[in-house]
Amino acid sequence: MGKVAVGVAVIGAAAVCAAAALIVRHRMRCSSRWARAMAIVRELEEKCGSPEAKLKQVADAMTVEMHAGLASEGGSKLKMLISHVDNLPTGDEEGVYYALDLGGTNFRVLRVELGGKTGGIVSQEFAEASIPPELMVGTSEALFDYIAAELAKFITEEEEKYHPPPGRQRELGFTFSFPVMQNSINSGTLMRWTKGFSIDDMVGNDVVAELSKAMHRQGVDVHVSALVNDTIGTLAGGRFSNKDVAIAVIMGTGTNAAYVERAQAIPKWHGPLPNSGEMVINMEWGNFKSSHLPLTEYDHALDAESLNAGEQVFEKLISGMYLGEILRRVLLRMAEEAAFFGDEVPPKLKTPFVLRTPDMSAMHHDTSADLRVVSNKLKDIFEVSNTTLKTRRAVVELCNIIATRGARLAAAGIFGVLKKMGKDTSTGAEKTVIAMDGGLYEHYTEYRKCLENTLIELLGGDGSSSIAFEHSNDGSGIGAALLAASHSQYRNESS
Ligand code: BGC
Repeated sequence: MGKVAVGVAVIGAAAVCAAAALIVRHRMRCSSRWARAMAIVRELEEKCGSPEAKLKQVADAMTVEMHAGLASEGGSKLKMLISHVDNLPTGDEEGVYYALDLGGTNFRVLRVELGGKTGGIVSQEFAEASIPPELMVGTSEALFDYIAAELAKFITEEEEKYHPPPGRQRELGFTFSFPVMQNSINSGTLMRWTKGFSIDDMVGNDVVAELSKAMHRQGVDVHVSALVNDTIGTLAGGRFSNKDVAIAVIMGTGTNAAYVERAQAIPKWHGPLPNSGEMVINMEWGNFKSSHLPLTEYDHALDAESLNAGEQVFEKLISGMYLGEILRRVLLRMAEEAAFFGDEVPPKLKTPFVLRTPDMSAMHHDTSADLRVVSNKLKDIFEVSNTTLKTRRAVVELCNIIATRGARLAAAGIFGVLKKMGKDTSTGAEKTVIAMDGGLYEHYTEYRKCLENTLIELLGGDGSSSIAFEHSNDGSGIGAALLAASHSQYRNESS
């Protein structure tokens, strides 16, 4: 072989070696990035762990806080608010009543026609509008004017047969799903906002007075007979259709629970003992906090950067407003530290709340072989294309870890309430039905299944046979109308 030929061969061999070295280095970098990404997943999984023993500690802590919150005002992070509802609907309610339902991104106006003892719900009609985001952080006047205007429109458009007889006012139940210190069944002051609402001039004011002023400004003559939380409305609506309903839980944008308590077990209640001997309590459990909660660095950061830092810690772990945001935060860390989506961190991944829980749910439920839904969501939301199947699988795994923790903790909360009520071990014929509502419960199937199975796990064989879940679809609006009926200003007159 001539010198030239040898030289060419050597250069060629060197080039091949260099290319091979590059490939090896690239592969090594990829595999070490992947290992780093997986380490983040495993760490999350470990920190989110919620074995049965831990859930029982959470449930016990919930029970302890319930006692403390009932003992004195401010005695616990759990407000255990007295709803002033000491009688739930009986089914005898009769007449035409209205409800306004404000508590999240949507707002509803309802009219319910109640047929009395045998008539049940004769008819119902509703209109829905979404709350423009700027109204969630504006002034109370702007928010309430918007609501009153929707009510005015609804009433103007309705048939004449629904017009009240001369000398009578229309009556409504106002479902206002934020923490309110009730002074009576139809008055109460807002304690603070949750779920992304933040209207400072409203805090400390009477919610019904603000609504009444706005209705006056809009020329609407309607009397507010009942002010209720959505959990109380759901409990009332649930009881109307099933007499065994004793607890209501909302799993939606926010989360909360209400239940029927013995009036004598409420030391902070100084009013007269109700004839029923019972009082419905709005727990405001979203604000529950305990050292047993499996919190991660993502939860701490989410909380610190939220509009209500330090508040609603339980809500931030389990409710619909936050699950997608937790997932976004984990993905961002994986993108930054492990180049999970390639060399560049996708800019969209840095936008808070860009990943909504319904999108997370869609990815979690993707059953296609190539995880097409996950691929499309990553493209549409974060503008990340060409993800590998392995990457998409990891995303589904993250959805599962985050949703499972939320659902299991929600079940532990319910178990705590059942314990407080002494219904965690009941066997016999006595049934306790839990009225459930909220978009998370309704639409996130894996979450719902996990929540229900975990409660069965916690109750054990015997206990679980006497507990049942019931989806109370839109019960809170109907419940508010029912409570408006039972607290009508005309209830002692013959109609
Ligand atoms: C509110 C509760 C409400 C729950 C569900 C929470 O953020 O504080 O009052 O019941 O969301 O809507």
